Amino acid sequence: MRNNMQDAILLSRNIFLILALAPFACCSISEKIPLGAIFDQGSDDVQTAFKYAISNHNQNESGRRFELQAYVDVINTKDAFKLSRLICSQFSRGVYSMVGAVSPDSFDTLHSYSNTFQVPFVTPWFPEEVLPPSSGFLDYATSMRPEYHQAIIDTIKYYGWRRIIYLYDSNDGLLRLQQIYQALTPGNEPFQVKTVRRINNVTDALQFLRGLEEQSRWEHKHVVLDCSADMAKDIVVGHVREVS
Ligand SMILES: *[C@@H]1O[C@H](CO)[C@@H](O)[C@H](O)[C@H]1NC(C)=O
Ligand SMILES: *[C@@H]1O[C@H](CO)[C@@H](O)[C@H](O)[C@H]1NC(C)=O
Repeated sequence: MRNNMQDAILLSRNIFLILALAPFACCSISEKIPLGAIFDQGSDDVQTAFKYAISNHNQNESGRRFELQAYVDVINTKDAFKLSRLICSQFSRGVYSMVGAVSPDSFDTLHSYSNTFQVPFVTPWFPEEVLPPSSGFLDYATSMRPEYHQAIIDTIKYYGWRRIIYLYDSNDGLLRLQQIYQALTPGNEPFQVKTVRRINNVTDALQFLRGLEEQSRWEHKHVVLDCSADMAKDIVVGHVREVS
């Protein structure tokens, strides 16, 4: 009788051990977590960063608890119907989350699908202002980049610049400009945004700055360049070459 009891205990302990080991066994062999990704055509830098991060994560077999499997779609459409079909086919793969960098039009579509189906949507930055859902439910979209328009305002204030020329090259930059306008109290602004210009490339920016120089050669000008550091460097170097 006693032996039987011991056997039973041993047996149950074995089962417990096996059960307890099972999750680790399953996960070290690694579960595959599907991720959906949607990028606009021409967002090569973001796509490269994304691919690099995924492969970095997957190759680190000792450090990771699961493997990521990304389904990437690159779109060249603003057609909401086509985009909806694409999102549905992503969702039907059982993705845990969507990742993407898209234009404001596509963003609206993606955003509303992600909130409706409660699938998180992660994006490097919001291409437009994102208001909390009117339904009062949680917003499933997350921007990875903090908003830094206040830092731009503080920098301008610090240097005491009164009139600003604002050059930007993306929807993201336009959004930041809007935020700057909103943060300035009417009638009591520490500075004014005198001129605004969207630029496509360095040539574009240089041509515009040259025009300003021709208009008023001797006036001090304060230009904010809202673009990548590389592009800003090329603009500054190019402009200095032109005026000197
Ligand atoms: C692998 O992941 C672990 C834990 O996240 C981390 O500490 C380690 O630096 C990673 N190794 C490589 C080569 O990235
Ligand atoms: C720069 O953008 C303008 C449009 O604003 C375009 O006409 C021009 O071809 C572009 N230049 C280069 C070098 O990409």
